[in-house]
Amino acid sequence: MYEELMEKAIEVSKNSYSPYSKFAVGACVLAESGKTYVGCNFENSSFGMSICAERNAIGTAIANGERKLKAVAIYSPNQDNCFPCGSCRQVMHEFCSSDEEFDVIVKEGENLKVYNLAFLLPESFSL
Ligand code: THU
Repeated sequence: MYEELMEKAIEVSKNSYSPYSKFAVGACVLAESGKTYVGCNFENSSFGMSICAERNAIGTAIANGERKLKAVAIYSPNQDNCFPCGSCRQVMHEFCSSDEEFDVIVKEGENLKVYNLAFLLPESFSL
């Protein structure tokens, strides 16, 4: 399953709009419904408006009615082990049943590495 998620993340990274950083990213989230949603990063000449691949994918999941997500695969052709930024980790926290039950999958060479959100975002903030 995680291989399939990563394949989709790799495919969507090809649509990245990143002329400023030249750092392409693709992400594919798995919802508790079993459906998957992809997103890529897209930048802006006003740099601070750039949107990460993970938040683009999560936003698409939300727009399709999902509220609980289980995992996200992240890929960049520019970097092995492309980890999510701090802001995206907080957004993942918002839409998972628990941090322990949400997996982040990255690629290291030919291998997939799986990290738990509880490990990547310790002592996370909730209201
Ligand atoms: N980026 C992502 O899409 N996801 C991350 O987790 C890290 C950073 C994007 C934002 C920007 O378009 C480019 O990578 C360089 O920061």
